[in-house]
This record gives sequence, C-alpha cells and structure tokens, in this order.
Amino acid sequence: MKNIWYVILVLSLFALAACGSDSTGSGESNGYKVGLAMPTQSSERWVKDGENMEAEFEALGYEVDLQYAEDVVQTQVSQIENMITQGVDLLVIASIDGEALTSVLEMAEASNIPVVAYDRLIMNSEHVSYYATFDNYEVGVLQGQYIEESLGLADGEGPFNMELFGGSPDDNNAYFFWDGAMSILQPYIDEGQLVVRSGQTNFEQGATLRWDGALAQERMDNLLSAHYASEDIDVVYSPFDGISRGIISSLSSVGYGTDSKPMPVITGQDAELSSVKYIISGEQTQTIFKDTRELAKQAVNMADAILQDGEAEINDTETYDNGAKVVPSYLLEPISVDVNNYEEVLVESGYYTEDDLQ
Ligand code: GAL
Repeated sequence: MKNIWYVILVLSLFALAACGSDSTGSGESNGYKVGLAMPTQSSERWVKDGENMEAEFEALGYEVDLQYAEDVVQTQVSQIENMITQGVDLLVIASIDGEALTSVLEMAEASNIPVVAYDRLIMNSEHVSYYATFDNYEVGVLQGQYIEESLGLADGEGPFNMELFGGSPDDNNAYFFWDGAMSILQPYIDEGQLVVRSGQTNFEQGATLRWDGALAQERMDNLLSAHYASEDIDVVYSPFDGISRGIISSLSSVGYGTDSKPMPVITGQDAELSSVKYIISGEQTQTIFKDTRELAKQAVNMADAILQDGEAEINDTETYDNGAKVVPSYLLEPISVDVNNYEEVLVESGYYTEDDLQ
C-alpha cells in the first residue's frame, strides 16, 4: 500500500514538472527568446503591433527583444544582426525595405533561427519560414469598392475628378493594395466616369516612399496647383491613413473642408486614432481596420507552433511569392470602416474607447 502512494506521488511530481516546461500561458519562463524587429514608432499601428506581440509572447513565457528602426533600413539590419548574435530562438520581422534583408536572413539561416514575416513580406530569401498578414489584395478591393459605392459609379454617375496615391515601392503590400483598388477603379477610368486630370495612373507615378505623409502632402500640393486651379477634386484614393492625413493637410490649405467646398472622398488604412477622429469630423471618409490584436496573436501562435511543434497553421499557400519561394501564409480579413460603422467595429470590439475618440 505504501508503495502505491509513493508511485502516485512520484508520477504527480513528473506531471507537474512537465507542465512547467510547457508554454501554458502561466507567464513562467519557457526558456525561449524571440526577437521582434518593427519598422517605426512614427506610425501608431506599429506601436500597437509591437506592444500586443510583446504581451502575448510574455504571457506564454517567452523573453522578448522588441526593436524599432525608425524607418532606417540599415538600423533594422543591424538590429536583426544583434538579435542573431545574442542567440534569439526565432525572429518576427516587419520589414522596412522588403528587398534589403536577404544577407541578414542568410545569417539567421546559418544559426537555424526561423523567421516569421509580419504584415509585410520579406522578399528574395528562401529563409522566410511563414508570413502572417491580412488579405492585402482585399484591402485594395474594399477601398476601391468604397469609392465605387459612395460615388454611385455602378449606376453610371460621373464624371468625377480623382487622383491616386500608392504606398512605398519597397513594400510588397503596396502593389497588392494598388492592384486590388485598380481592379475596381480602372474600368471607370477607362469609361471616363473617373477622370485623373494629372494623367498619373501608374503605381510608380503615385508611389509614396516609406509611406511618408509629408511626401504625399507635397505631391498633393503640386497636383492641386497644376491641375485643379479651376476644377474641384472629388475623390482621392489613398492606401494608408498617414498618407491620407498629408493629403488632407494639403487640401485644407487651399480651402477644402467647408460647406461650399467639401472635402473629396478620401480612403485610408489602419484605422489610426487621429484618422478615425477625422472620419468622425468629416475630413477623411473611410479607412480599413486591420485588427493588430488579431495579427499579433496570429504571429505569436505561429512562432509558438514553430518552436514547439516545428510547423504552424496556414490558410494560403499560393499568393505570396517572394521571388525565392512561395511563403506559406496566414491571411486575416480586413474590414472597411466609415462614419456609419466605426462604433460597432472599433468601439464595441474594444479597440478604442469612446474617450479615445474625443
Ligand atoms: C503596410 C501595411 C499597412 C500600413 C503601411 C504603412 O505594409 O500593411 O497596413 O501600415 O504599411 O505603415
């Protein structure tokens, strides 16, 4: 009898010890360290992405090294090199220039450190294990459809004057947003319902290096003075809230935003706080909400699965060819937001409080 109790005690101790080494959400160290390389703190979304991932990883017992490179490519490369030298077990990277990490990822490969591309695809490297992102083409489609619906284009309305802005040419996402939007808008341009007075209808002509709002503002100033001295502009396609804010500043400076000269329809992306406020006050028309809490969770689950089981769940094996391989991906769904649904999508989900939006 005594022996049986002894065996039970020993087995229980083993079971307890096994639990301790597992990542059970207890917050106890699991012995792994991850490096998180984020692009910049100048855009609010990346701050949220970083904070969310750090919290999720720490809850699972990971040690976290979170770094921002303030949009300087070489800084990001050095930060990743340091993480590799320090011996992180896995890297999660939201690249600044998706084409600039091939060599540093060779270093990661030589040290057997798996790499998860976060939101932005890392190009020209075999050593991108997985990609966690949103359906980026769908983002562009939703933005294009918003313009289509709000102007009544499918009912034959028009012509409307429109200008187009693209994202950063070193970010693979920028092409997906543009192509998705153009899949809706191009036929209306061809039909003459949308008139681009500048004639700048190629991605390269509309691109905005590093998604920089100041550059967008400058381009908008030039477009307005060159092509809209005697005509009003009715709609501006913008792929990102930071770019939209630059466009809005430019438009305000020449008198848009009044009853007699209302703001054009302006799209955006990321549901950044200041842009949601602009939507409520009527300066910006729409944005795309990509729940950074969900993306962070997805990336952390992926990383955890890679380290614990060697592989992670995916839902796309076709879309994201980085030039060296098709990277297995998990795509989340973006949501279009405007003044009619921001309460439901952003406030009721707890992403923002009513107070945040005051
Ligand atoms: C993209 C990202 C967008 C936006 C943009 C500028 O890569 O997918 O959501 O954040 O960068 O930061």
